[in-house]
Amino acid sequence: MAQIIDGKIVSAQVRADAAHEVEQLKEQGIHPGLAVVIVGDDPASRVYVNNKKRACAEIGIHSEEYALRAETTQEELLNLVENLNHKKEINGILVQLPLPKHLDEKAVIKAIDPIKDVDAFHAENVGRIMIGDFHFLPCTPAGVMELLRSANIEISGKHCVVIGRSNIVGKPMAMLLLHQNGTVTICHSKTKNLAEVCRNADILVAAVGIPKFVKADMVKPGAVVIDVGMDRDENGKLCGDVDFAQVEPIASYITPVPGGVGPMTIAMLMKNTITAAKLQHQ
Ligand code: GUN
Repeated sequence: MAQIIDGKIVSAQVRADAAHEVEQLKEQGIHPGLAVVIVGDDPASRVYVNNKKRACAEIGIHSEEYALRAETTQEELLNLVENLNHKKEINGILVQLPLPKHLDEKAVIKAIDPIKDVDAFHAENVGRIMIGDFHFLPCTPAGVMELLRSANIEISGKHCVVIGRSNIVGKPMAMLLLHQNGTVTICHSKTKNLAEVCRNADILVAAVGIPKFVKADMVKPGAVVIDVGMDRDENGKLCGDVDFAQVEPIASYITPVPGGVGPMTIAMLMKNTITAAKLQHQ
């Protein structure tokens, strides 16, 4: 039976620390502010944006929502980002992805001032992560690292396997594990003998976006299993990329869905917004 790494508990601690830091910053006249931009009416994005605004309110971070209609043009969106780049009350800019298909996501991310890029998606911040000289870490991989730290899981020298190679999770996740001296393998849809590679992992991170993709035969007994998935099963119920019922009995540690990585993402966004505010007042 695995020990559950509880993201609700760990994220509550991160948010409490963040709230305390915001209080101290306000005494120095620094009031962290986050702008959240949402285009169109994707229901999942709406939920994420509401959660981000609620977390800001709880922690004492000023937040502004910019809800734009689905037909918004590229020029309108870029103009908004440019205004936010110059707005003093705003330290962090988050454009909720995915954007409607007619908009160019890469160009929008490129337009965000890197010092306000609290997602760490801008090429400058991605490059900084590569060379280990960063201000911000992308929220989901940073949340995973915090979960591993909270459970005192040693990464150095361990074989870490990341399933998924997205720019948001898989690639930066691999880099953060490498920074902690993990021996890292990235698997993807073209990987041969995927189950065998995964079975070699001491730490297995699933970020594929396929419900219950990781089965018992893909997990080494005693492995640490981190589930980044946020999927729906055949009955429409929220589940992860890991088949929890199969894998939990053989893993040493496992994160549940919901209540694992999910709550960490927003907590790390709050930390990045505070970091951004401090950087901009230096
Ligand atoms: N959509 C899904 N995850 C994320 C995220 O971490 N940041 C942004 N901006 N959009 C997302």
